[in-house]
Formats: sequence, structure tokens, C-alpha cells
Amino acid sequence: MLRDAVKDLNGKNNQKFSYTFTILGASGNLAKKKIYPTLWALYRDELLPKNINIIGYARSNLTVADIKSGCCSYISKTDHESEKIGLFFRMNRYIQGLYDSSKDFRNLNDVISSLEKTPSANRIYYLALPPGLYTGVTSIIKEEGMSSKGWTRIIIEKPFGRDSESCHALSMHLFSLFKEDQIYRIDHYLGKEMVQNLMALRFANRIFSPACNRESIAAVRILFKEPFGIEGRGGYFDNYGIIRDVMQNHLLQILSLVAMDKPVSTCAEDIRDEKVKVLRCVEEVELGNVVLGQYVGNPELDGEAKNGYLDDPTVPNDSLTATYALAACFINNEKWQGVPFILSCGKALDERKAEVRIQFRDVCRDIFNGKCKRNELVIRVQPCEAILVRLMNKIPGITFDIEEMELDLRYKSKYKDLVLPDAYERLLLDVFCGSQVNFVRNDELDEAWRIFTPVLRKIEEEKIKPLSYMFGSTGPSQADELIERLGFKF
Ligand code: BG6
Repeated sequence: MLRDAVKDLNGKNNQKFSYTFTILGASGNLAKKKIYPTLWALYRDELLPKNINIIGYARSNLTVADIKSGCCSYISKTDHESEKIGLFFRMNRYIQGLYDSSKDFRNLNDVISSLEKTPSANRIYYLALPPGLYTGVTSIIKEEGMSSKGWTRIIIEKPFGRDSESCHALSMHLFSLFKEDQIYRIDHYLGKEMVQNLMALRFANRIFSPACNRESIAAVRILFKEPFGIEGRGGYFDNYGIIRDVMQNHLLQILSLVAMDKPVSTCAEDIRDEKVKVLRCVEEVELGNVVLGQYVGNPELDGEAKNGYLDDPTVPNDSLTATYALAACFINNEKWQGVPFILSCGKALDERKAEVRIQFRDVCRDIFNGKCKRNELVIRVQPCEAILVRLMNKIPGITFDIEEMELDLRYKSKYKDLVLPDAYERLLLDVFCGSQVNFVRNDELDEAWRIFTPVLRKIEEEKIKPLSYMFGSTGPSQADELIERLGFKF
């Protein structure tokens, strides 16, 4: 599929089209860790269009060689040795400029124009920048940087505002400059294999599709855990907190894919229409259904784990920002009313894991002496992608006892030598191909903020103190208590 899309990009009209991919914020972490390595991987796998120029733009006085050495450690070792990487960086250029200078953007535009030798020339701008710069930079792109003979697309990363109002203001600004089909809002979880698989599992399997509703499902858990703290990112993180950083976007996107109705087709607008429809039925999160935590140092562990969130030099000493959050969402529609969707996410926990657990209701009248446990469908997003179904099975042999077993589809053992593309690879390719299916539409964002803004406001106004949990633990124990109260069985 991907290769077909690229063939189309290059196509018969190879000589007619060219592309310029400009990374604004080329000296920053996102560019170094994700964007350059992703462009390289696409180039290595021959998934980039043939006529492409890559331009890095930032304030620092750098060269392409500096950019290359900056991203070296994020590119796999074997790749390093290849000559191809040299060729890749030869396609790159670097331009120094300010983000608020029309003159510097005119200069950038002159360079891009000089490279556009084909009759049609398309441009992509990736805003790998602090969100405070989005408005100014997009205005200057509109004035100085639009392609005069092809399309221009803008990629932006979250945070898209910090509440309903700021998100709305940003959207209005972007709409004054671009059409929705020019704006690619990244939520990189939508590029992950198992998140994309949710649609296939639900709508291509008769065993699951009729069961996805309140008649059969007791509770749904969507969880995200990371075993490391904020690692000096306090400047960003402390202003946003874990709800805005992970829950309101990545986890809510997963929720919408788990709960939405079957779309009319797999086209972007049909899928996004269904996601919005279900999000509109999600009730605002209530404070009583939320547990907040903040990690403290663990003297028994080494390195970063010895320090708590407040020990990080980039965090104010009295910060009340949550690094762990659990929230129950309820969907007020015929299909899901009463079923808790329990979202939880946290930094500095015991392991790295992102998972969806769909727990079925208890069987009616357990004739096996109360031994029946609930069935569960588990979609492990990472690490070690897997689909697991927990079910009750007769213990083989002469007895008539039952036990819990697992049907497993672990990708590592099922698909030998499988190398899954990184989420960013799929997403950047989508931008070239003009597919918005894995990007967040404006009205999805509005709903996401509607669901979380009131509770975020309450947390801030009432200065709610997060519960302490130890670095390397499973989070505050009160979260487990709430999960049980909500009817999810461990
Ligand atoms: C980002 C968050 O969106 O997702 C980070 O800002 C988080 O705080 C990251 O660490 C997790 O992404 P992944 O792909 O490593 O699970």
C-alpha cells in the first residue's frame, strides 16, 4: 500500500512534480530525535518522492554537518555505516533565520523557489517549534512561503492550545490562513500499528463487532505507562501536565477508535465523522472520577529515579502539576451508556506500556462454582505489539475444572523478522500523499477540549494537590481503588 502511494507520488509525472520539505525548528529536539531520522528512514526505504529537497531552518548558526551529527545517535548504527546516509544528507540544506522576520522567510522562499525546477512544486512546512510561535510563523508562511505552482501543507504538533478557548483561537487563526485540508495536526499515536489495527479488529471481525456495546462490555481501560520521569522537560511539561500531554490527545484518540460506530468507508472524512460523533457523546470529565499523582524520588533506585518531580531543576519547587492521572469517561449514547472508559497515564512508573483492555461482563449464572472470570480482549500497543484474548477453558484431562487461558497473537512470534515502521514514518508519508486519515480534525480537537477543560480548570482553580507516588511504582493506590469502584476487575 505504502509503496503504491509512493509510486503514485513519483508516477508517470516524475518530471512534473517536486517537493520541498522544510523543518522549522531544525536545531530542536523534535527535529533531531524524530523528523530527520524519519525522513532518513523513508529515504533509505525508497519511500520518499524522487524530486525532494529538505531544508532545515532555525535561528542557530549551523551547517548540515551539524544537523547530521546532532541526529546521529537517533539513527540506527547499521544505517550509519551506509553510504546512503551521506547521499541523504546531501539532499539537505540549512538556512539560518529568525521566526518573526519576514525578510528571513523571504530568503527561505527564494532558496525554495530556486530549487523548484518542475512545472508543479509542492511544499510541506513542519512546525517543530514551541507552540507560542505557531501564530506568528504561520502568518509569515502565508505571506512569504506559499507555493505558487502546487500545494502547501502545514504540519503542527500538539499542544494545540491548553484549553477550549486557546485551542479555538489557534484554530480560527489557522483557518484565516489555510483550508482544513492543508493543516496536518499530528497525534503520533494514530500512526502506531496497533492503534491503526483497532478499526480492523472491530470492523473486520464478526466475533467482536456485535459485542462492542453496553450489553457485553463491563469496562474499558486505556492505559499508558512510562518508566522515566520528565528528564529535564519541565519547562514544557510543568505548564501542561500529564492530562494535556497524553490523556486529552493520545488516550482520547484511542477511546474514539474503540467506541465509534462503523464508518461508511475507510476514507478520512468518514472515519473522522464517526470519531467526532462519539466524542460529542462523551460527558465532561468529573473531578470525582479523577485521581492525580506526582512522583517522588525512590532512594532504592539509581540515577534519575532517586529524584522526584520537584527535584528536577526545570520544575518550580511548589508545582502542583500531575505526572500521573486516571480519569473515567462516560459515553452518553445508546451503545455505551454506563460503561466506564478508564484512561490512565503516568510518568516514572514501573514499566513502559500502552494497552487497551476491553473487559466483558460476567457470564450469567456461573455453573462452575464461581470460577468463571471475565473475558478480556487486550490490544497491546507497545512494547511487543500483541492481541490477547483471555478466556475460560476446561483443564485438559479427566477433571471438569476450568482455568483462565490466553489466546495470543504476539507479533514477534507470529510475524517473523517483522520490522514495523515508526509512527512518524507513516504519518509523514500520509502528508506527502494527502491523506488526513491519521490526523486530527479541528472538530475532534474541539470535542477533546470540551471534555477536559472544565476539570482542568477546577484542578487549577482549587489548587488540587496530586497524591505522591514513588518513582518506579504503579502509581497512587487510590487509582486502583477507583478502578475497582468503577467496576473493572483486576
Ligand atoms: C508525547 C508526550 O506526545 O508522547 C511525551 O509529549 C511522551 O511526554 C510521548 O513521552 C510518548 O510517546 P511514545 O511514542 O514513546 O509512547
